[in-house]
Amino acid sequence: MKHIINNHTTYRDFPVLTDCDAVVSILDATGFFYPEEIDIALELVNEKINNPEISSYQFIFAEYENTVVGYICYGKIPLTKAAYDVYWIAVNPNFQGMGIGYSLLSQAEEKIRMEGGKHFYIETSGRKLYEPTHAFYLKAGYSIIAVFKDFYADGDDKLVFYKKL
Ligand SMILES: CC(C)(COP(=O)(O)OP(=O)(O)OC[C@H]1O[C@@H](n2cnc3c(N)ncnc32)[C@H](O)[C@@H]1OP(=O)(O)O)[C@@H](O)C(=O)NCCC(=O)NCCS
Repeated sequence: MKHIINNHTTYRDFPVLTDCDAVVSILDATGFFYPEEIDIALELVNEKINNPEISSYQFIFAEYENTVVGYICYGKIPLTKAAYDVYWIAVNPNFQGMGIGYSLLSQAEEKIRMEGGKHFYIETSGRKLYEPTHAFYLKAGYSIIAVFKDFYADGDDKLVFYKKL
């Protein structure tokens, strides 16, 4: 079943209006994000839809049976030559563990390489809740290059994962 779903998942690299609701519902369903983080994630999708030429955010959406089941938002870090950041990556909990997150990340890496990008960073929380996420990044070939103690709040470090592309 796992592979059947993954094999029938399609990907597109531009947002459409209905993605706004999809992004909110996926981020909410993961239980990983604060409401204010979800608001910002939504703002970025809207910005891309309304001002595609100006927005520097890039997206890939994963769809299964016409429903968005995951997405990644990434982009070039302003004032750098070839460094990119992942801003959001999330997969609907009912579709996690099927290879969709890995596909989203790999496709973003490929697109960045094609644009001449060399460095890919992912900032995330060091909280225990995120341990499966850390395992996911490590499995995808990223390593932890920096830890900012108590960055988000006391006991909530910021970890920076990195992969040279
Ligand atoms: C992190 C996330 C995007 C991964 O997406 P996914 O589709 O579940 O991941 P995949 O199925 O592609 O997993 C790829 C590999 O990562 C590893 N991995 C994924 N989830 C894991 C988990 N819960 N525990 C341990 N390893 C895990 C596995 O080794 C897997 O390889 P395998 O298929 O050979 O076993 C998804 O779990 C998610 O949305 N999590 C909540 C939100 C989040 O943490 N986002 C990132 C915020 S910075």
